[in-house]
Amino acid sequence: MPDTPRNRMKAIGKLGERQVSIWRRKPMGAMMPESGEALARTLSWPHLVALGIGAIVGTGILTLIGVGADRAGPAVLVSFAIAGAICACAALCYAEMASAIPASGSAYTYSYAVLGEVIAWIVGWSLILEYSLVVSTVAVGWSGYAVGALRWFGLDLPPALANGPALGGVINLPAIVIIALVAGLLMLGTRESARVNTALVVLKLATLALFVAVALPAFDPANLHPFTPYGYGSVAGAGGVKFGVMGAAAIIFFAFYGFDAISTAAEETKRPDRDLAIGIVGSMLACTLIYLVVAAAAVGAVPFARFSNSAEPLALILRELGRGGVATIVGLAAAIALPTVLLAFLYGQSRIFLVMARDGFLPHGLARVSKRGTPVRITLVTAILVAVIAGLVPLDVIASLANAGTLCAFVAVAACVLVSRRRDPEMRRPFRTPAAWLIAPLAIGGCLYLFTSLQVVTQVAFFAWNAIGLAVYFLYARNRARV
Ligand code: ALA
Repeated sequence: MPDTPRNRMKAIGKLGERQVSIWRRKPMGAMMPESGEALARTLSWPHLVALGIGAIVGTGILTLIGVGADRAGPAVLVSFAIAGAICACAALCYAEMASAIPASGSAYTYSYAVLGEVIAWIVGWSLILEYSLVVSTVAVGWSGYAVGALRWFGLDLPPALANGPALGGVINLPAIVIIALVAGLLMLGTRESARVNTALVVLKLATLALFVAVALPAFDPANLHPFTPYGYGSVAGAGGVKFGVMGAAAIIFFAFYGFDAISTAAEETKRPDRDLAIGIVGSMLACTLIYLVVAAAAVGAVPFARFSNSAEPLALILRELGRGGVATIVGLAAAIALPTVLLAFLYGQSRIFLVMARDGFLPHGLARVSKRGTPVRITLVTAILVAVIAGLVPLDVIASLANAGTLCAFVAVAACVLVSRRRDPEMRRPFRTPAAWLIAPLAIGGCLYLFTSLQVVTQVAFFAWNAIGLAVYFLYARNRARV
């Protein structure tokens, strides 16, 4: 193009248009699906509370009490309280945005409506870390229990089929099988999945109640001294590991999230105005209370050093108390109930992908739903993706990235609350975050602090992942957006 004043104006115009376009926002009127893409509304608030508890209570509380105590000592109790408080602030922000924009894309959708397309893309890209990595990690963890249980019945799975290539095997078959089973249930129907989930959640809560009933009577205040052997801040230790109450809180954060998966059920909820907020805030508060009681029972029952390096700290504490039989029951029941985490996160990831497909970022055909209003195609594609990760990828290296991805989404949702309150004070908000100008900044500040408390390698990997995401956006996704 010759360098004439007219052409220069044209180029500036185009540039201006482009700069605006990456910040374009999805209008509220475009939030709801086209015909043939609407999901069936079958869920009410008890299903949502159960979905939230099913997502939150998982490998975190079963294993991370040990890791947390290793880094904070008995003050792991404070780490639980801090991680819980930050998540509670984030949950209130989610409740506001989910009831104001009841579409299934969760943080991705809210960011698209409030912060602009490129931020929404980064948030959606980070949510893949949260949802897909949690499903894959928990499936691999579950496979460990399954191999043990099969051995109990005299069936020895060859190591090549019990481990992915990273651990010297060929493929992690039990992880793939459990993902396939959960995906099959989800494809059968959302209501059916919610029923199975509720039954398993009851079992999970009964298991924790059994642990508390046995461990709490053995509470000895002497086990709480010294309370903070590694201090409060996050202090770098050997191998990049961060110690102290905040270092532990950054890891324990994993145990708390999952309530956000409820927001992905917005289009399948009968009364989203009321039920989403009850589900999100209710499940978060219930789990915070449960975790504090379980953590207090654990650190009070035996000196923390005895269980801090265990892969199954709750069972170990019970054995230390001479209750081996109860330890076996707790281990078994926990393993049976663990797939609720898979169910909730696979469900959430498929709904986020569904909305991204509607928006043109994934092939549009994936957004179609079955006659019964279930998104069968996208559930299948999501299940294949997470099964490949679970079967082949070395998860111990990348699992902590799930925390980083989630922290990014929480920051975005809290920012959405602040920006939309300021820009659009008249927006319909069936649930309003109380003291939003305090709670949302607390959520943002808390999440950023937890991010700095993650290991440096995790932080670098998170930025690298998003750099790839941005490249994909500018080279491919941006031109496909349908908004
Ligand atoms: N909060 C979920 C768990 O602990 C991710 O497994």
